[in-house]
Amino acid sequence: MQEDILRVLYSEDEIKSTVSRLGSEIRAHYQGKNPLLIGVLKGAIVFMTDLMRAIDDFVEVDFMDVSSYGSAAVSSGEVKILKDLDTSVAGRDIIIVEDIVDSGRTLDYLIKLFQTRAAKSIAICALMDKPEGRVVKDIKADYVGFSVPDAFVVGYGLDFAEKYRNLPYIGILKPEVYKQ
Ligand code: PRP
Ligand code: MN
Ligand code: MG
Repeated sequence: MQEDILRVLYSEDEIKSTVSRLGSEIRAHYQGKNPLLIGVLKGAIVFMTDLMRAIDDFVEVDFMDVSSYGSAAVSSGEVKILKDLDTSVAGRDIIIVEDIVDSGRTLDYLIKLFQTRAAKSIAICALMDKPEGRVVKDIKADYVGFSVPDAFVVGYGLDFAEKYRNLPYIGILKPEVYKQ
């Protein structure tokens, strides 16, 4: 896998301290609220498992499988629910946990969905934000780990064609890998 990576963008240590900072911010804002963390499969899996421990207070977790990219390098613009929540969000303080916000279409779809399902409050925690990719302009994460450049990033949950999710760091993929 390593040979497909142009360079490491965020090391394991940098990710660890950033996740710890995000956990502290969330803990401070949600004392006594028992928020429901909603991880967006599959990209958010690694971040979710670290974040939920970094919060170090009462939280519940659930997952939704939503996909918009398929195996293409460019978003199709289409969002589909592949797996819905097991938990009701009605009256709950929810935090949507994402690995990255790019065009904003996934979150735009989810926010509207959870509004119709009467969540009490909806926040977004994204490990990465790629502002240059934004199509839905008003999508903004409440908790952001890193603001990333417009490059193809993989690892720590993020894939290209389902590969590289298990890299422990976040790296920039060599263009020849996704352009071939
Ligand atoms: C990726 C990523 C985010 C979304 C961000 O998921 O994990 O969920 O795209 O892009 P957007 O802001 O343009 O919507 P993807 O649909 O590739 O599915 P995956 O998480 O299973 O890889
Ligand atoms: Mn995703
Ligand atoms: Mg993907």
